[in-house]
Amino acid sequence: MTTTSPILPTELEDLVELFDVAPTDSPTPDDEREAALASPRFGTVFTDHMARITWRKDTGWIDRRIEKYGPLQLDPATAVLHYAQEIFEGMKAYKHADGSVWTFRPDANAARFARSAHRLALPALSVDDFIGSIAALVRTDLAWVPGGEDSSLYLRPFMFASEAFLGVRPATEVEYLCIASPVGPYFAGGVKPVSIWVSQDYHRAAPGGTGDAKCGGNYAASLLPQTEAQENGCDQVCFLDSTTNTFLEELGGMNVFVVKADGTVHTPELTGSILEGVTRSSILQLVTDRGHGVVERRIPLTEIVDGLADGSITEIFACGTAAVVTPIGRLAGGSFDHQVGGGEPGELTMAIRTELTDIQYGRTPDRHGWMRRLA
Ligand code: COI
Repeated sequence: MTTTSPILPTELEDLVELFDVAPTDSPTPDDEREAALASPRFGTVFTDHMARITWRKDTGWIDRRIEKYGPLQLDPATAVLHYAQEIFEGMKAYKHADGSVWTFRPDANAARFARSAHRLALPALSVDDFIGSIAALVRTDLAWVPGGEDSSLYLRPFMFASEAFLGVRPATEVEYLCIASPVGPYFAGGVKPVSIWVSQDYHRAAPGGTGDAKCGGNYAASLLPQTEAQENGCDQVCFLDSTTNTFLEELGGMNVFVVKADGTVHTPELTGSILEGVTRSSILQLVTDRGHGVVERRIPLTEIVDGLADGSITEIFACGTAAVVTPIGRLAGGSFDHQVGGGEPGELTMAIRTELTDIQYGRTPDRHGWMRRLA
């Protein structure tokens, strides 16, 4: 895997000042914004502004700006519409009790964004521009950061090929944007166990493909199997490896963990076709801190199915920025259908969820130095 080591950002104020702010002339009325913040549904309402930077092959990154949130005008020949040269990230801004606003491990997201850019032949955005754009946007739309339990401002940085041409080659014009949306829990039922359908007919990624890049194409490939999961009464799809169709990989947009009765915690190892989740790596740390044996390895589906039948697997959970830590209460596939932990949230699952969110919302000391103040 190609890794790009993040250059440590300089002072945040200096980064924010690089962005020209053109405030919207039609801000959302206070009562409408307050109504949206009171019951935010995932990814349905957007703030008044967006961050934007333009790249051209001959100029590099130029025109750092915060502008009115609104539709983009694209030529029908715009490269992203044809060849999906696009990447994105998912992050959150959390309001702490004293009103300050923080984000979680932005340097890890910035580094992954650079790795994804490399794989999709897009230009790398510096850690400074990545973090500066987020801070500038959050400061402009500060009134949009929700304060409630489990609520946050979801941040969606993304980059796409904006050049209009039909040849198949890396674009010489690219746009980077970051938009923001006040959100509550990702799953409509809140923090309740979800059901998972293991797809045996479709795969998300293959060796040498784009599975470890956060690009839209991976998510497009998950939509039909996700529909199949729903047709089988499940909330989410889980993919197996495409070479042998036997090892667990990840869900449609989340990593997966398995807890055994002996207290060990297992997660699929990063083989190149699995996304290296920031939440995943944080959970590996938190679980290790608690003294659990932690194993990153190839996990055969048969081991999970047998372990659920004989009780040696006690908990399974999904994780990601959007899903945080979500208990899995049922695992089904063509020839099996098992409850996990009697369909109830697992003890370790919920303890890790509480610990992680306590760090993110500033309710417990941030002993790993993961939080970064934005405003
Ligand atoms: C996230 O967890 O932030 C993602 O980008 C995944 C997507 C399913 C919402």
